[in-house]
Amino acid sequence: MTSCNQFEAEFAKWLSVPHAFSFWKARVAFYAALKALGVGPGDEVILTGYTCVMNVNPIKYLGAKPVYIDIEPDTFNINPDLIEAQITPKTKVLLAQHTYGYPCRMDAIAAIAKKHNLTLIEDCCLCLGSTYNGKTAGTFGKAAYFSFQWNKPFTTGLGGMLLTSDQQLADKIRQLKQAGLSRPSFKEVALLAAELAVYRLLIYPRTTALAQQAFRFLTKKGAVVGSSSSAEFDPVMAPDFFKAMSSVQISAGCRQIRKVQKNIAHRKQMTALYDELLAQKGFPARVYDKSLMDPVLVRYPLRIKEKDKALELAASAGVELGSWFECTLHPIETPLEKYDYTQGMCPQAEMASQQTVNLPLHPRVSENTVRRTVDFISQFTPIA
Ligand SMILES: Cc1ncc(COP(=O)(O)O)c(C=O)c1O
Repeated sequence: MTSCNQFEAEFAKWLSVPHAFSFWKARVAFYAALKALGVGPGDEVILTGYTCVMNVNPIKYLGAKPVYIDIEPDTFNINPDLIEAQITPKTKVLLAQHTYGYPCRMDAIAAIAKKHNLTLIEDCCLCLGSTYNGKTAGTFGKAAYFSFQWNKPFTTGLGGMLLTSDQQLADKIRQLKQAGLSRPSFKEVALLAAELAVYRLLIYPRTTALAQQAFRFLTKKGAVVGSSSSAEFDPVMAPDFFKAMSSVQISAGCRQIRKVQKNIAHRKQMTALYDELLAQKGFPARVYDKSLMDPVLVRYPLRIKEKDKALELAASAGVELGSWFECTLHPIETPLEKYDYTQGMCPQAEMASQQTVNLPLHPRVSENTVRRTVDFISQFTPIA
């Protein structure tokens, strides 16, 4: 391990992977992986059509083309049966995003990557500790990246980590970091530290909706370091995009990684409670291959009628209801055409984005929160 900080060392050790590289955000980690792999103009990257636009930006920044694959309705993950039809001589990378924490069908996906000589990368931004056939997500591909943004399985405010077991790729990433990584400004680090302090003191499930509204307002005014600026809805890379993780994030990350097993156990316990209470209210059981998948959910996805109304009422009821993904390339503001997405490309993903809300599972969610959330959401009609 030739890591340069303690968080990288501890994160790599947790997943028994030899190389870890920290960045300001996960999108920067993904960019570093693509760049180190030599992805450039004319190349194609295959990914799910149910993702966050910030995940597509790195592909576009390098002049490559995103090719979207529809999802499997039950797990919201890329449908392996649809991938091969989209592979061309230009396809370089196959990205497996483990959505909401459900692991992708990695046996099928790894076999496709091998057959067509594609580099397999895992997007583990919504997934921490989930396993497929006994193997942890993040250890299947040539590289994997994780996010520590506010909504993610654990948070350092903002932050990303790239993992790889491939020595050659690790050497290239190290070179890239040495050659071109900028440092976050003093103002950015100070604001992030203040935001983390506020978060620890004030953000609980009942206050989240209000806090998010305030946070979005302040982000637009430039008064806080937000997850994404309005400039990031255009696939043009900002000069300071390739940025390092700050010391504030590293310390927060070290604290969080030491609590990761507790975090995972809590998520599983609260997921089981949601399963039980939602079943009592007539919601259909979650469907996934239990013989192969052991998911650790980041949020509990649920399909309902009247998603918009539920989100509107949740805010005033003090219920923390998540809206992602609001469209196939979240959030709703994304100009889809700039990202090579045309309506109708991924019908299952489009339907999922119209129907799906998500319920909180983070460490501050208590049994009482789960009960209140289920009481609230059960006034809406489930969709099977
Ligand atoms: C699935 C997925 N991948 C990647 C990212 C990018 O993560 P970050 O905000 O740390 O850059 C996101 C963004 O929220 C995401 O939802």
